[in-house]
Amino acid sequence: MALRHMTAGDSHGPGLLGILEGMPAGLAITEELLLPELQRRQAGTGSGGRMKIERDRARILAGLHAGRTSGAPLGLLIENLDFANWQNHQPPEYTVPRPGHADLAGAVKYGLDQTRPISERASARETAMRVAIGTVARLLLAQAGIGIYSRVVMLGGIPAQGRPAEELLDEAELRRIHSACEESPVRVDDAAAEAAMQAAIDNARESGDSLGGSVELFACNPPIGLGTHVAWDRRLDTRLAAALMSVPAVKAVEIGIGSDVGVRPGSLVHDQVDADNPAHGARSSNRAGGIEGGMTNGMPVWLRVHLKPVATLQKTLHSVDLQSGESRRARYQRSDVCIVPRACSVLEAELALVLADALLEMFGQDRLDLLLERLAAHRGRSLVEHVRHV
Ligand SMILES: Cc1cc2nc3c(=O)[nH]c(=O)nc-3n(C[C@H](O)[C@H](O)[C@H](O)COP(=O)(O)O)c2cc1C
Repeated sequence: MALRHMTAGDSHGPGLLGILEGMPAGLAITEELLLPELQRRQAGTGSGGRMKIERDRARILAGLHAGRTSGAPLGLLIENLDFANWQNHQPPEYTVPRPGHADLAGAVKYGLDQTRPISERASARETAMRVAIGTVARLLLAQAGIGIYSRVVMLGGIPAQGRPAEELLDEAELRRIHSACEESPVRVDDAAAEAAMQAAIDNARESGDSLGGSVELFACNPPIGLGTHVAWDRRLDTRLAAALMSVPAVKAVEIGIGSDVGVRPGSLVHDQVDADNPAHGARSSNRAGGIEGGMTNGMPVWLRVHLKPVATLQKTLHSVDLQSGESRRARYQRSDVCIVPRACSVLEAELALVLADALLEMFGQDRLDLLLERLAAHRGRSLVEHVRHV
């Protein structure tokens, strides 16, 4: 592993800390470049009150020299503006865990008779720092010509119509879809589905419920060979699944057509290689999601990620009081109704981190200029030149 990161910070503490170690020297980064992604995480229909309070901005405290990475670890800080609101009153004691959240298992595991210390860290507030760190990875990928995109394809059981991901081979089309989704409060490129999804979110809010959904993620123009088949934990699919599953509320990750591989025959699962296509490794379909044998095959990487409805419901569920052992209704605290559109920026950040890690591993992580030279040489070879090279 070439790139490592860690975060620290509680939901209502003074701020979030992040360290990203392993970026090559020479990448231009400013706090302004990190802002748009942080703002995307905060926008969208279904967001709760917290998002109206926070105006996330990441400060860069270490790792830059004259506006470029120096090769040293990057240190980042995002202040929690909500912290000031909590300083003058005692935080309430929560003793009734919310089913579906980390509260119950965490309280038992750490021997606590209240859930607050668990929810402070399990809260997805931490994902703001992941977006900041992932945006740095994304800036590296942009230098390498790799673009990251996403769209919501399902929300509250309502599908968005559009071209199937396995047919989306052209970056310009993906960029257009991504931009159209950015204009949509539910991040879809389908006006009818958008209206139905918004109505579903309004209904869920009125009835005190919450909604989940599914997101498709894309990375265009990866070189052939990111990841490897030689060891289980170095496979790119292993790493992508782990990184995406680490996002709170994600319950399933599919690579390419995913669960459909159990339905279709092999001839409609595997992507034939077109020897006449000048782009190396080109296929006319991309059911594999751009990954074969734990490595990129040169086609766009695409994945489908499924997120559960949030566990903090106004329509409270049955639970137990940890102090008395008596049956109680779970507590409700300010919460989002549907986090699926907002989660896109977090999921894109995770995809960027895994690909940046694999890119650095393959092409070197000391200096950006050398990495780009090696990458250009790799991209410049034909399929036959590649194998002759060994
Ligand atoms: C961007 C984002 C925002 C979230 N906001 C909330 C929220 O407001 N309320 C809530 O109960 N869960 C929210 N979650 C989900 C919880 O953090 C998550 O369900 C919980 O930590 C338990 O983890 P698990 O769902 O992976 O089992 C959010 C998740 C993400 C990715």
